Amino acid sequence: SPDLSITNVTASLQALQDIATANGGNRATGRPGYKASADWVKAKLDAAGFTTQLQSFSTSSGTSYNVIADWPGGDAEHVVMTGAHLDSVSAGPGINDNGTGSAAVLEAALAWAASGNTARNHLRFAWWGAEEQGLLGSNHYMRNLPTADKDRIDLYQNYDMVGSPNPGYFVYDDNAAGNEARDAMTAYYTSKGIPWEYIDVQGRSDHASFRSYGIATTGMYSGGEDIKTSAQAQKWGGTAGRAFDPCYHRSCDTTANINTTALDRNLDMIGHMVWLYADKDFGGTSVPPT
Ligand code: PHE
Ligand code: ZN
Ligand code: ZN
Ligand code: ZN
Repeated sequence: SPDLSITNVTASLQALQDIATANGGNRATGRPGYKASADWVKAKLDAAGFTTQLQSFSTSSGTSYNVIADWPGGDAEHVVMTGAHLDSVSAGPGINDNGTGSAAVLEAALAWAASGNTARNHLRFAWWGAEEQGLLGSNHYMRNLPTADKDRIDLYQNYDMVGSPNPGYFVYDDNAAGNEARDAMTAYYTSKGIPWEYIDVQGRSDHASFRSYGIATTGMYSGGEDIKTSAQAQKWGGTAGRAFDPCYHRSCDTTANINTTALDRNLDMIGHMVWLYADKDFGGTSVPPT
C-alpha cells in the first residue's frame, strides 16, 4: 500500500486555512468559506479525472453542498466509499475538525488517480456539508440515493479529526457489520507498532446514516474534547490531563492545532484501507441489507 504525501496534506490544510482567513475566519455551513472549500476540493478532483457532483441541499443555516467524486471503472455492483465532512463550526477555521479528514481523503483519492491502478470495486469519495448541524449532508445523500444504489455500497469509511494535537488512536466500534474493516484497520496500526483503542462513537459522525441502513462502516478519530488519561499518555505520548484537542470547535483550531506525526500515520492508514478495499472480493453479487 502507498506512502501518501504528508507534504501535500499539509499544503491542503494551509489552503483550507487561507480560505477561512479570506472568508471571516470559518468554513461553516451557509458562509462563503464553506462554498469556497467545496469548490476547491471539487476543482482538485476534476483535474485528476474524477467524475464529480456538487450536491446542494438546504439547511436552516443556508444552502450547503456535498462533493461526491467517482473514480471511473470498477464493478459498479460493489462500491467502496470513503468520506469526511468538509464544514467547520462558525467559531473557527476547522483545521483539525475536519480539515484533516478532508485533506487526507483528498490525498488518498488523488494518489489513487495518479497510481494508474485498476480497482476491482468502484471507488467513490465524499466530502460532506453541514455535519456540524447534525450530519445533514450525509443524511441528505443517503435519503436521496435510490435503494438499488444504497445496496451497492459494501463499505463506508469515515474520517473526522485525524490529526489532533494531543492525539489518541480511536477506531470506531459502533457497527458490527463493519467489524471486518474495523479489524483491518486495527491490524494495520498493530503492524506499525501504534497502540489503538476502540471507541463507541454512537453514530456521532457521517457514517451514521450508512450504519442505520445496514451498510458496513468503520472509521478513525484522534480525539476531541475528552481528556487524555495518564495511561493513555504512557502509551501514546502527549499530555495527560489535557484534551486530545483543546481547540475543539474553537477559533484556535488552526494549522497550529495539528500533530503532524499522528496525521501522517493516519494518512498512511487511510491509504492502506482504500487500497485494500479497492480490490476486496465482496463475492459475486451484492447482498442487500436485511
Ligand atoms: N463529529 C464530531 C464533530 O465533528 C467529532 C467526532 C468524530 C465525534 C468522531 C465522535 C467521533 O464535532
Ligand atoms: Zn457489493
Ligand atoms: Zn465538529
Ligand atoms: Zn468533525
